[in-house]
Formats: sequence, C-alpha cells, structure tokens
Amino acid sequence: MTPHSAKDTAERTALVAGGAGFLGSHLTELLIRKGWRVVALDNLQTGSTANLSRLAKESRFSFIEHDVIEPLPSSLKADRVFNLACAASPPRYQADPVHTMMTSVLGTKHLLDVAERSGGVFVQASTSEVYGDPDQHPQREDYWGNVNTTGPRACYDEGKRAAEALCFDYLRLGKADVRVARIFNTYGPRMQPDDGRIVSNLICQALSGKPLTIYGTGEQTRSFCYVSDLVDGMWRLSDVADNPGGPVNLGNPGEFTINELAALVLAMTRGSSPIVHQALPQDDPRRRRPDISRAEAVLGWSPKVQLAKGLPPTIAWFDKMIAAARPVVETPPKRVRAGGRVPALAAAPAAAPKA
Ligand SMILES: NC(=O)c1ccc[n+]([C@@H]2O[C@H](COP(=O)([O-])OP(=O)(O)OC[C@H]3O[C@@H](n4cnc5c(N)ncnc54)[C@H](O)[C@@H]3O)[C@@H](O)[C@H]2O)c1
Repeated sequence: MTPHSAKDTAERTALVAGGAGFLGSHLTELLIRKGWRVVALDNLQTGSTANLSRLAKESRFSFIEHDVIEPLPSSLKADRVFNLACAASPPRYQADPVHTMMTSVLGTKHLLDVAERSGGVFVQASTSEVYGDPDQHPQREDYWGNVNTTGPRACYDEGKRAAEALCFDYLRLGKADVRVARIFNTYGPRMQPDDGRIVSNLICQALSGKPLTIYGTGEQTRSFCYVSDLVDGMWRLSDVADNPGGPVNLGNPGEFTINELAALVLAMTRGSSPIVHQALPQDDPRRRRPDISRAEAVLGWSPKVQLAKGLPPTIAWFDKMIAAARPVVETPPKRVRAGGRVPALAAAPAAAPKA
C-alpha cells in the first residue's frame, strides 16, 4: 500500500473544517508537523482560536472564520479536506438543532465540492452515533444502526447519517476520493469543561469537589480513545492509497462502565466526591464498543494510549482550565485616610471554582 504523501513532492495544502475545535486543532498540529500547509476553517461556535495559539507564528498555517452552511469561495482548493465541523457535545448541538442538521448536510456538501474541484481526498468525521442504541455488539461497520429519527439527538445522529449518504454518493459518482471515519468517544486536552460529555463532566466535578453525576445505573458502557490516537487514525485514513470503499471505525475497543470510569477519575484526582444518580437522557445508548478490525487491516492502525495513561494529561488540562476560570482574589490596596488610620477592608469573597 503506497501512501499518497510518498508520491507527492510539492508542498500540499490541507483544509481542516472545524479546525478550532478539540479534535480539529490536534489534527491541524499533526498535519503541520508532517510538513503540510494547513487552512483551518471554523465558525467558532464551540471551538476557539486559543486552541490554535501554538501555530500563531507558523507560516504554513492560516485561519478562516466561516460557517460551512454558507457556500465556500470557489478559489478555495485543497489536496486534502477534513470535515470535522459540527458541535459534538449534546447540549451544544441540541441548543440549535436546525443549525446542527444543516451543518452536517449543507456543510458536508460544500466541503465535498471543495474536494471535487481540487481533485483532493476528503475525510469525513462521522460518529459512532450513527449506530444509535445498538442491538449489535461490538459495532462493526456493516451494522446499519438503531437510531430514533424523532428524538432530540436526531439532529446530530441523522445529520451525520445523511452526511455519510452524501459522501458515498460523491464516491460512487466518481466526484471525489471520499473516506469516512466513524469516530467513537474521544477525550484529551482541549475538551471544554462545560461541554456535557461524560469524561469532562466527571473530571471537572471531581476536581471541584462536587458530587459526580452518573446517569442511570452507571452500568452502561463506553469506550474511550485518546486524542493522539484518533488524529493519527484520521491522518492514516487520508493517506492510505487504496480507498477503503466503506466507513472505518476509529476508537479504542477497551470497554468500561460509567461506574468504572467514575472510580478511576476519583482515584486519579484523589477526590472523595459522592456519586449522585440522575435519569438517563432520552435515547442514550446502553453499550458502545468499536470493532476496529477494518482499521487494523486497512490502515495498520490501533490505539496505543490506554485509559489509565490518557486520563492524567486530561485531568491536568482540566485542572489548568478550572484554575484559570477561578476569579483572582486580589488584596485591595491599603487606603490610608488623612490622619493615618487604616480602614477595615471588606472580606474577599471565596473563589468559586467553575465546573
Ligand atoms: N470528540 C468525540 O468524541 C467525537 C466522537 C464522534 C465524532 N466526533 C466528530 O468529530 C468532529 C469534531 O468533534 P470535536 O469533539 O472536536 O468537537 P468540537 O465541538 O470541539 O469541534 C467542532 C468544531 O466545529 C466548529 N463548527 C461547528 N459548526 C460549524 C459550522 N457550521 N461551520 C464551521 N465550523 C463549525 C466548532 O466551532 C468547533 O470548532 C465533529 O464533527 C464530531 O461530530 C467527535
């Protein structure tokens, strides 16, 4: 299998839509390290240019603020187009469900058109949510899924399914060399403390000494992939010469109950918070674990960072975020009245850590 990049000599350009987000910023940095010129494009809905601050002085990097729902300039060309533009956190994508659906459908179409007119490779960040609440376990790519089309998660799940349909139509029609990654739960530094995802919720609650919220019994399972493994998988998917022809699961097959994750987080943060149980959100999947045999065979990829290794840098990241959000309690300057008496100063309010 000859990687695409081995054939190319000129400097190549990658377009990373959603490049200011959690995964997009890590992917952008990886591409820069590999010698690519990268254009990151983002509407900053859930991402932030702070995630790209390490690249501020990098001459091969540029940023465009743009919503992919709107058509892209016809002058925009790229040898590889990575589409990660879409809020991934349930409270964020449910806040404006119509925009979420349009991001997946119209946004993917606009980005596919960039790949078509550039003759480039297109990589779609799809999701394990296309499997819905699966009745097949672990999930293989040939499983069609069990998704509720009318629930509050449908704007994301069905949007991503429609985007996959568009991707495979472009591939079948020979319009673009399209590859689809079905990404399972991924975590690591640059996740947002308030994004409502399970890893960020539990770590922030433990670090702030708040009760850990577990939805349902906590016996539902998830798999957790560390961000460096995930972006390596996306890179390989873009770089493999032979188009895999179908979607490729990317995730860590290690399977943990939410109770196990909570226990690990408490141990690693040396926290002693109690656990509180709340009702399961609607359409919450009971079990999630990727079958990654296709990624192993086609990309030579499997994750290297196990949960016990990936959690400490993630906890350190959230610790830093929480400390930065804490109001700085400054000692007010001493005011000395004429006559030299120092007035009593009001007690400073206690710093409230932000979860
Ligand atoms: N992190 C995960 O566990 C996970 C799992 C499965 C799939 N994914 C997919 O990977 C991609 C990246 O996820 P993430 O975790 O980095 O989330 P994220 O929210 O941090 O990143 C998404 C980025 O897309 C941008 N964006 C959203 N709508 C846009 C629009 N209409 N136009 C332009 N930019 C837009 C956001 O501002 C943000 O920077 C998403 O497509 C998501 O569906 C992520």
